[in-house]
Amino acid sequence: MAKGLDVGTMNILSARQEGDETVFVQQRNSFVELDYSDMAEQMLSRSEVLHIKKEDKVYVVGDDALNFANIFNTETRRPMQHGILSSDEQSAIPMIELIIEQVVGEPAHEGEVLFFSTPADPMDSELSTLYHQKTLEAILSDMGYDPEPINEGMAVIYSELANNDFTGLGISFGAGMTNVCLAYYAVPVMRFSIARGGDWIDEQAAQATGTPVDKVTSTKEDDFQLDFESDIGGVEGAVSIYYDNLLDYVVENIVREVDEEDVEEGLDVPVVVTGGTSSPDGFEELFRERLAESNIPFTVSGVTRAREPMYSVARGALVAARSEEGTVPGSSDTGPEEAEATTED
Ligand SMILES: Nc1ncnc2c1ncn2[C@@H]1O[C@H](COP(=O)(O)OP(=O)(O)OP(=O)(O)O)[C@@H](O)[C@H]1O
Ligand SMILES: [Mg+2]
Repeated sequence: MAKGLDVGTMNILSARQEGDETVFVQQRNSFVELDYSDMAEQMLSRSEVLHIKKEDKVYVVGDDALNFANIFNTETRRPMQHGILSSDEQSAIPMIELIIEQVVGEPAHEGEVLFFSTPADPMDSELSTLYHQKTLEAILSDMGYDPEPINEGMAVIYSELANNDFTGLGISFGAGMTNVCLAYYAVPVMRFSIARGGDWIDEQAAQATGTPVDKVTSTKEDDFQLDFESDIGGVEGAVSIYYDNLLDYVVENIVREVDEEDVEEGLDVPVVVTGGTSSPDGFEELFRERLAESNIPFTVSGVTRAREPMYSVARGALVAARSEEGTVPGSSDTGPEEAEATTED
């Protein structure tokens, strides 16, 4: 057995293989703080609600946090911000620990291989991912796993580009970040992240229209389509504008980074976009347009969106973990390119 884990700013997901099926377990990466009372403690203990007591507070963690925040008219908080553990949040580590424990469960055996996603260092901020990565490694080791970090963009390549020899450009549009990875036969040629994603769109649109951020998020997640003609002045119109701006910014940074990294010219690669922020109708087309207008120094053979954008990273981490462990039929422990080569034989 081996497991994959996607540790995201908004969602934490695990993936494991059961026969022919990949099984995912998901929780929101958020919590709410409530005043402690014996009554509340008793109620919560009898329920399935994930919670933890600390001093005179009770914390409701994961998917239920939002319901409790609505009932008690308080705000949810997040252990992570911009793709990494939040330095503003004192309770970040115990909260994320509880969510991770719930999502991955006990290891099948001591030292079970687990690959967890970690972002690349962002090119547009001073944030460093080292502390985040090392802390997660320690949490997972304590649980009895043999943890190994995998770059989030690389996980996209493993999950979505197996049929193309793990060659192409994978982009994960998340909540706190956008992660980009260009790989050539499963070898990463360029990796970077941008400290903007769905949260940034929500914050900007909220500010522009004077709407609470949570309201913008739910409008965006509920049947929203990228559309620049209708809803001028409204929340959906503002969200569309910031979506467009985010895509411009991402493409601009890809072009700059490809130039700097001296990526071989004349490549012809497929592009896969994924992550929750890539969900709205029209996203794929808009990204395709923006990429076509740019002067990127390689040819793009096509832009596709992953079939299940929320699951790509966890699935890719699982592919890498199984390959490392040697549980993929015909694979050795040298990496997914071996597994793919055998399937094609
Ligand atoms: N249907 C939808 N339409 C638009 N946006 C959506 C939809 N569903 C989810 N999102 C947005 O996707 C983002 C969450 O995506 P995802 O779970 O991929 O991020 P994450 O992995 O938690 O974050 P990160 O990778 O940045 O750390 C949020 O900004 C959320 O609002
Ligand atoms: Mg993510």
